[in-house]
Amino acid sequence: MSKGYFITIEGNEGAGKSTVATMIEADLRDRGLEVVATREPGGISIAEQIRAIVLDNKNTTMDGRTEALLYAAARRQHYVEKIVPALESGKTILCDRFIDSSLAYQGYARGLGIEEVWSINAFAIGGHMPDLTIYLDVDPEVGIERIHAHGGREINRLDLESLTFHTRVREGYLSVLSQFPDRIKRVDANPDIEAVMAQIRSVLDDFLGKTEDAAGR
Ligand code: TYD
Repeated sequence: MSKGYFITIEGNEGAGKSTVATMIEADLRDRGLEVVATREPGGISIAEQIRAIVLDNKNTTMDGRTEALLYAAARRQHYVEKIVPALESGKTILCDRFIDSSLAYQGYARGLGIEEVWSINAFAIGGHMPDLTIYLDVDPEVGIERIHAHGGREINRLDLESLTFHTRVREGYLSVLSQFPDRIKRVDANPDIEAVMAQIRSVLDDFLGKTEDAAGR
């Protein structure tokens, strides 16, 4: 069993994940934890190279299974090279997207099947699931409006997909959430950032309270 906490953040496009991730990182540090913040796809060189392929707007002919396998390959390398060593040295991993992105996007929204995508990912990470996943749930319309309003980051291949796809991604997350109700905590990401962070702080209070009780700390 690993010693550090493994926490992931999930959400559909425009849920405010990046802003929230920075704020959660600060919050966890304030609680005295040593935090390694990372993201998927990416986080280390080999996985960042795979990310460049998978998110390249030119790769319009990419097959759904190829996409799923590339995400899983990037995940494997990130897992062995960065996640496991950090957890084993007692650090908290805070990862922006992880396996649930694959289950929701490739498994459900792209129609490959949550079970199928689960099995290639189980191979990639040996079934080692996060201890806690914070799912930022935003209405797809609100999310897409936010992306266009901020315009701050480049629009990637998947941003260009239709509203229907984003709606399916949300349905996918809700389906995954119903399979892992203890691990995944849903946060309403439609209101302003302060209201979102208040919900997240209470999720973290609960999680850290429970795990500390269990460890007799
Ligand atoms: P990114 O620019 O990091 O987007 P975001 O800010 O929304 O996290 O691009 C990641 C994209 O990759 C995003 O559209 C979701 C998608 N993705 C998958 O489809 N499957 C996966 O397993 C992962 C990790 C990401």
